[in-house]
Amino acid sequence: MNHSLLLDALACRNTSRRPPVWLMRQAGRHLASYRKIRSRCSFLQMCHDPALIAEVTQLPIDAYGLDAAILFSDILVIPEAMGVGLRFEDQVGPIIERPIQSPQQIEDLPPVNIEKLQYVAQGIALLKRVLKIPLIGFCGAPFTVASYMIEGKSSRDLKKTKRWMMQDPVSFSALLNKITDWSSAYLRMQAASGVDAIQIFDSWAHFLSHRDFRAFSLNYMQKLLQTVNACCLPSILFCKGSSVFADQIAELSPAGIGLDWNCHLPKIRQQVGDRVCLQGNLDPDILYAPLDRIKDETLRLLDDMRGDRGFIFNLGHGIPPDVTEEAVRTLVESVKSY
Ligand code: CP3
Repeated sequence: MNHSLLLDALACRNTSRRPPVWLMRQAGRHLASYRKIRSRCSFLQMCHDPALIAEVTQLPIDAYGLDAAILFSDILVIPEAMGVGLRFEDQVGPIIERPIQSPQQIEDLPPVNIEKLQYVAQGIALLKRVLKIPLIGFCGAPFTVASYMIEGKSSRDLKKTKRWMMQDPVSFSALLNKITDWSSAYLRMQAASGVDAIQIFDSWAHFLSHRDFRAFSLNYMQKLLQTVNACCLPSILFCKGSSVFADQIAELSPAGIGLDWNCHLPKIRQQVGDRVCLQGNLDPDILYAPLDRIKDETLRLLDDMRGDRGFIFNLGHGIPPDVTEEAVRTLVESVKSY
């Protein structure tokens, strides 16, 4: 893949008339084709089956003609491989069956065994045979993954996680280190299988103070970034909270920074200079608005970033599961015809 809008933008040298566009959670429940497959198997069955990984990854590409595919999987396949037990419940979301409640449980976590995630490598290999656009691989940031392992499910306030972090930072860091080791090996496996770029998702970073973000999140993402750099792949660091942490993230020199929807992108551009790609950042809930409003907001962001060689059009977080395909198509078409 020598030339693509996505890879050009990640290298800050996209000189075409428009930026590349892909959308977080593009392969999800808002698609009727996804719901059809999902009606006959569970989400985890879909994640574990290489043929389904490949099929579902391509659904939004066929539906909208996006400029990049993102591997269909989940950040929680790593804790699952680490043996804490994982299931997904409708209306609830992910459940960790044996959440981490003591430092001893952290000690007892198994050493890295990447064989357990071979099904992902197989899915990537299938995709690389057919995809004509770049494939984005991913993993969760160690802080976000640790929070699921401690909370046991999605949490409103991360109380257990932050209490642990404040009371016993040493064992908390030991957990982060173990997750980082697994994630590094996992990213190396994705790179060896053929992904073209990596995105790291720190969905819960906005619960951390400026200083704790560095100590408990950024330092571990930096290790993952070093792994990705060593594989010669571009990386995108997406944090919920990147509107405030953008300067700290930019210090690590990732290829790209994924921005949530709180910030004005031209202002972030001024702040971080022009050697890093910016990705984002429409409010995902814009997809509930009338189609002409979706088009207006899309054009506004395109105008804001016009001529920027390092810009990837995306939302500020994932596509909500209950928006219409027409809404998503309106957004994508507005970018592609710009
Ligand atoms: O973006 C994509 O289309 C690629 C696939 C992808 C999924 N999850 C599929 C998914 C990616 C990149 C993720 C990452 C992920 N998973 C994150 C980080 C990004 C973010 O959204 O903040 C997080 C925090 C998770 C954990 C997770 N997985 C939660 C909290 C949930 C429940 C919420 C929900 O939407 O149901 C999931 C489930 C999930 N992951 C679904 C999909 C398509 C829905 C599963 C279903 O069919 O019921």
